[in-house]
Amino acid sequence: MSKHEENNGGNNGNHGDTPDGKKMRRSQHWFGGSSKDAFIHRSWMKNQGLPDDSFDGRPVIGICNTWSELTPCNAHFRQLAEKVKQGVLQAGGLPLEFPAMSLGETNMRPTAMLFRNLAAMEVEESIRAHPLDGVILLVGCDKTTPALLMGAASVDLPTLVLSGGPMLNGRYRGETIGSGTHVWKFSEAVRGGQMSQGEFMKAESCMSRSAGHCMTMGTASTMASMVEALGIALPENAAIPAVDSRRHALALMAGRRIVEMVEADLRPSAILTRAAFENAIRANAAIGGSTNAVLHLLAIAGRVGVDLSLDDWDRLGREVPTILNLMPSGEFLMEDFYYAGGLPVILRRLAEAGLLHKDALTVTGQTAWENNRDAECFNDAVIRPLAKPLLASGGIAVLRGNLAPLGAVIKPSAATPALLQHTGRAVVFEDIEHYKARIDDPLLDIDADCIMVLKNCGPKGYPGMAEVGNMGLPAKLLAAGVTDMVRLSDARMSGTAYGSVILHVAPESMAGGLLALVHDGDMIEVDVAGRRLELLVTEDEIARRRAAWVAPVAPKSGYAKLYFDHVLQADRGVDLDFLVGCRGDAVPRESH
Ligand code: FES
Repeated sequence: MSKHEENNGGNNGNHGDTPDGKKMRRSQHWFGGSSKDAFIHRSWMKNQGLPDDSFDGRPVIGICNTWSELTPCNAHFRQLAEKVKQGVLQAGGLPLEFPAMSLGETNMRPTAMLFRNLAAMEVEESIRAHPLDGVILLVGCDKTTPALLMGAASVDLPTLVLSGGPMLNGRYRGETIGSGTHVWKFSEAVRGGQMSQGEFMKAESCMSRSAGHCMTMGTASTMASMVEALGIALPENAAIPAVDSRRHALALMAGRRIVEMVEADLRPSAILTRAAFENAIRANAAIGGSTNAVLHLLAIAGRVGVDLSLDDWDRLGREVPTILNLMPSGEFLMEDFYYAGGLPVILRRLAEAGLLHKDALTVTGQTAWENNRDAECFNDAVIRPLAKPLLASGGIAVLRGNLAPLGAVIKPSAATPALLQHTGRAVVFEDIEHYKARIDDPLLDIDADCIMVLKNCGPKGYPGMAEVGNMGLPAKLLAAGVTDMVRLSDARMSGTAYGSVILHVAPESMAGGLLALVHDGDMIEVDVAGRRLELLVTEDEIARRRAAWVAPVAPKSGYAKLYFDHVLQADRGVDLDFLVGCRGDAVPRESH
């Protein structure tokens, strides 16, 4: 036991009552009183120049910051944190910034998703272990949003999510280009011979030209929209560009508001209800959001005890048209979305159509309807009226069948309509290395009607369920003008990607799902309207293959082993089994 643990004594941060019968503020279990312990807690903090009255019982607000120069989408967060601090101070609170593991999508290997649960665990324990009364979560790049919210939800102190905002629109040779979406387009154009390598290199600087996260409706923009739709972020959180002065004003208002939330004891458990998740699922359909939101919302719901399932995604999204005209499904970008009115317009239109639980409580202390009923649309080409949607039925389709008894997902809005009902011959890649080695082999027996199958890229595979499900097409087919084919895997897909891509097959191949037993030449039937996914191979043949199947080698040590041994399948949000649930803000006693 360290000196400091010893000095904590019975001061474990659990709630108690003051002599006048009021509930004592959580931080006062560290900073209140005249004991030796309180001396230690205050004295060390004072080395930062904090005066005596910092510890007089005012709300202590943690600012959980995922700033990192290795996470370019979050690299501007130091300035954002300063604005939050100003707001907290203006409202009479004490702001204390602390770091959280940052998860940058572009640089982390094997995939940032492997570490989402690790970051969530770190955030949960950091919040609970410290003298905090409420927290602001500074999030941006894809996994930072779910990771921090999962961790905070398992503690259930008053919490407000603040997104860092999207980058400004990309521009290349007069054309608007979007993060990720145009990487896929340009790289396929290079492989198909329609774009030179020199032009490809020039486009690189034109895509990411300001601070912020991907400005297409990728996973970061989707999750920024999801937290606003859940009511755990302030209105307009989703779309204000990172460099717009109004993003800084929002940060300041978030700082003020979290102090009021602490005073009102407004916790995530009162906001993240089933109604909030249903609102978010419908909002995801309306904005044409990323398939990654399926996993993240399932995982967040698991932390707060809301029994959300894949079937909820299919059922609730099916009746909602996609009305936001953003890449990758449409033509505009997040900057345009903000100028058109942002997510409040989407939520108002859903509410007016009876597709939103109007009475869901939000961090403002008001309902979803009260927050958004006055929203105005300034560009109907970007945010379409419900009567003139981009797609009549948005949402995520959940397919089941012998190939995916626990489900698989497809985003029909990003697919070629003719391929949504398709039977084709399987061309199988055993893993991503096999795919890379084989895809451009001129002798590969493949045509546009084949179904590309990728194994061993699910939660346990890879490991970490990498975003490789949108496999690039064979160069020889690209050169022949083929633009889409059915692709099938247990992997994920970047929210900025598109195509007829079936993802999240569960159980995954590494866990012995039927996907592991698919062979070259097998016929596979995809029926999105009928929600079916079938391997057309006899039971006898499947039994024979299963008897011969050898499981791939699993990680032997380190975090990867912990993850591998405990990760749940895609239908449960890929959380770790022992992290599901809310454990509250009470500090466990040493005997536990
Ligand atoms: Fe960070 Fe896209 S790479 S949001």
